[in-house]
Amino acid sequence: MTDALFRDLVTAAARPYRRCGRYAWHFARGKLAGDPIFLHLLSHPLLPSRGMLLDLGCGQGVLTALLRAAADRHAAGDWPADWPAPPAALVTRGVELSPKRARIGQAALGSDAVIRGDIRSMALPPCDAIVILDVLLYLHRDEQAALLARCAEALAPGGLLLLREADADGGLPFRITRWAEQAACATRGRWRQSLTYRPAVEWSGLLVGLGFETEALPMSQGTPFANTLFIARRSNTTVQICPSSHEIADASIDRVMKPQTAAHSARTS
Ligand SMILES: C[S@@+](CC[C@H](N)C(=O)[O-])C[C@H]1O[C@@H](n2cnc3c(N)ncnc32)[C@H](O)[C@@H]1O
Repeated sequence: MTDALFRDLVTAAARPYRRCGRYAWHFARGKLAGDPIFLHLLSHPLLPSRGMLLDLGCGQGVLTALLRAAADRHAAGDWPADWPAPPAALVTRGVELSPKRARIGQAALGSDAVIRGDIRSMALPPCDAIVILDVLLYLHRDEQAALLARCAEALAPGGLLLLREADADGGLPFRITRWAEQAACATRGRWRQSLTYRPAVEWSGLLVGLGFETEALPMSQGTPFANTLFIARRSNTTVQICPSSHEIADASIDRVMKPQTAAHSARTS
């Protein structure tokens, strides 16, 4: 029952991309159907029901398309009893560097749904959830850490950060992940694209060091890859701490750490 329903949702979510051409439409269908994160997000109570969600490096915005299709289906009264209600009053904003993907997202979902921007430098507005799926590998180590620190500052207390990255300690599946990414970059003519991976334990340490309560889940089911989903909650308590020099060096956050940052919880001291 839920398999059929999810297939219907994917079909409905991909429909707005038809006007953007066959590639954009097929890509949306394939991505939503083949990547286990999307079913996981609908079938688990993770996303807030209201507020603002930022999807950083959103590509053509397929997460927004899926959440809209889910809200419509739920409103029509056709929804699995064991799935949480999809977010009904959550505003989603995608940010995408590639002009072409941003244009596709805007044409399919509306100009407010996706904005063109560089997440390394743009100001992050206050928000309730941030999703960053398979994006940080394109940033350098210091840029990764700086962005996560800005996410901690932008999120409301209790806010959610969903981060997915490949686990550099993931053995053969990791090597397949990296190879597939290198091949994808090459087909786009980006032979020199640098890819920066970290072991999952290092991502967790970085998030915990920023005051997030963090859980890590494998998120590659049905694929040969070594991806991990980090479910990170910004602490409700906002205690200022001074990180040790060891933490600063490890996380490469020395240039972005400001004394007044309130995203560190007592847990990290
Ligand atoms: C592998 S795709 C993932 C897209 C989307 N998160 C998803 O899961 O469908 C990575 C995306 O991140 C975007 N990206 C990379 N660096 C970025 C940056 N500095 N600012 C904004 N987007 C960026 C790329 O253009 C690409 O669309």
